Amino acid sequence: MSKGLTQLAKPVEAATSLEAERDEILEGLLAEPKRISSKYFYDERGSMLFDRICELPEYYPTRTERAIVAEHLSEIAELVGPRAAVIEFGAGSNAKIRQLLDALEEPVAYVPVEISADYLMKQAKELARDYPKLNIQPVFADFTQPFDLPEHPVMPERNLVFFPGSTIGNFTRAEARELLGVMRAEAKDDGALLIGVDLEKDPAILHAAYNDKAGVTAEFNLNVLRRLNRELGANFDLDAFRHEAVYDEGRGRIEMRLVSEKDQKVRIMGLVLRFRRGEHIVTEYSHKYSIEGFHAIARQAGFEPRRTWTDPRKFFSVHFMTAA
Ligand code: AVJ
Repeated sequence: MSKGLTQLAKPVEAATSLEAERDEILEGLLAEPKRISSKYFYDERGSMLFDRICELPEYYPTRTERAIVAEHLSEIAELVGPRAAVIEFGAGSNAKIRQLLDALEEPVAYVPVEISADYLMKQAKELARDYPKLNIQPVFADFTQPFDLPEHPVMPERNLVFFPGSTIGNFTRAEARELLGVMRAEAKDDGALLIGVDLEKDPAILHAAYNDKAGVTAEFNLNVLRRLNRELGANFDLDAFRHEAVYDEGRGRIEMRLVSEKDQKVRIMGLVLRFRRGEHIVTEYSHKYSIEGFHAIARQAGFEPRRTWTDPRKFFSVHFMTAA
């Protein structure tokens, strides 16, 4: 169940380890091929490494999305209208939400929905300092499941669901449709959605973006094993796995993997996992869409696309949709 927290009065207890996720992690490591959900990348070090990825010359999504939104900010504000409640799926970077809040006319509430209580409260506190008049109502919940929205002290004109960064790409197309359905339900009947979606493009550009020269993405990927070692007492040898990111053109997605460099055994949660040399763990999908393809699944989820903006190279897209 989700919990609406009142205006930052009580800090939430920090989720300090992966103990609660043991079953899901074990299930993934026993599957064929082995997998670890990409949501586990983001411990403190992982979040820091992701911030560094966003600054890499090869990693175009973050700066491209920022430029698209900056260019169309006043149109976005006009489409959203006054007194919106902004519901962000995942407490993302503060820079993105500030860019939006600064442009909107009298937003009445900001509702970040995030499963990492630590990150949620840190971000909400920072924002509260700079937006003293805005109601910041963090919701500690897994946004893939329907959650209860807090009651706003001021009645919003409409709900705007905000999902930047192409985080939607982490989900398979079927999962993405389902998640858009949750967003549609949270937006309510006169609500809207502002979402960033990475686009299909030359595989060489995608390959470079996920296999950067400086090796930051490799560090980010391997960090999840470091985390399992620390938080679940596993004994992965980080030198015996290597980062790999391949583009599957048929499925339209980057697959990030950790490849075992040798036959080896790893202890985790009282279990011994065997790896053959060359066998891999899937750690992330990053799906790439065509504009029409994305519109189709959004329509199936009950949204009507109203505006789509892209950059001159058509690398990335930002969509404004309303409840159909
Ligand atoms: C945050 C999920 C959008 O898929 O591009 C970046 C994560 N992984 N480099 C992406 C990521 C490797 C990123 N998302």
